Amino acid sequence: MRHFLWLIDYTKEEIKEIIDLGFEIKKETKLGIFKPYMKYKQLAMIFEKSSTRTRVSFEVGINQLGGNGIFLSSRDIQLGRGEPLKDTARVISRMVDMVMIRTFGQDRLEEFAKYSKVPVINGLTDLCHPVQLLADLMTMIEFGKFDFENPSNTTVAYVGDGNNMANSWAILASKLGFNLRIATPKGYEIDENIKQKALEFAKKSGAKLEFLYDPKAAVKDADVVTTDTWVSMGQEEEKEKRIKDFRGFEVDSELMKLAKSDAIFLHCLPAYRGYEVSEEVFESHADEIFQEAENRLHAQKGLMVWLNK
Ligand code: CP
Ligand code: NVA
Repeated sequence: MRHFLWLIDYTKEEIKEIIDLGFEIKKETKLGIFKPYMKYKQLAMIFEKSSTRTRVSFEVGINQLGGNGIFLSSRDIQLGRGEPLKDTARVISRMVDMVMIRTFGQDRLEEFAKYSKVPVINGLTDLCHPVQLLADLMTMIEFGKFDFENPSNTTVAYVGDGNNMANSWAILASKLGFNLRIATPKGYEIDENIKQKALEFAKKSGAKLEFLYDPKAAVKDADVVTTDTWVSMGQEEEKEKRIKDFRGFEVDSELMKLAKSDAIFLHCLPAYRGYEVSEEVFESHADEIFQEAENRLHAQKGLMVWLNK
């Protein structure tokens, strides 16, 4: 049995297997073919934070695979009233076949997985958001910006907060071997442990990882430009300070011009215009952004089928 807690546990070959399955099932879905890959399988979806995409994509996904999704908000279940996480894990995992959990610390996810009898999927933690990166990878491939045979042809620029998304990009690049430049303000760098692990994997994959403070240097000639909110869930109280500290890090048309002329722009969403991205950049790249959002559904179907094998 495998969990999907972060991409650090996955090899390039395994990531490719998951993505390929996602593509295969996406093709079938588009033709109106719904094979019961997970007939009668039950997916519990525990949310300790808000969600639009993760909730809808997992619920629709498991249903299209012939199974059933159970949405559990911590506001409604006993977990929110103080029932220990490890008890919640031992109860729920005796009744369902797979669990997706969105929570705060990675330690909570790990604790849940430790006590779970069934595969556990990370639906976002403060540390990383690996299912989002599966969708982002699918989207890069579809737009001709990545191929597993020639990963070093791709340069991705991440501009903004060194948060769960930035951490996840660092892991993905280091596993697959594409080049990644992350530009953050000082004091908002990615997680140090993730950085060290990524640099270690990069030695094997050939990925060139650069950690910068200058958005322009990061974006120059990039194939893919991406960003994320400056204020992640749980950081609402820091909002004012963050907005000040991130001045100069908005992805606007002027910055985007420095990337390759056919560069794509990705955003995991939700997006805050006038902060991490301008309205103009967002709307001129809406095709990529909403295909990326749709790919959450397809990539996660690939993942669930892969974990269910
Ligand atoms: N990108 C993403 O995970 O969106 P939600 O928070 O809406 O699930
Ligand atoms: N970094 C954001 C991602 C939301 C999908 C957050 O954690 O809130």
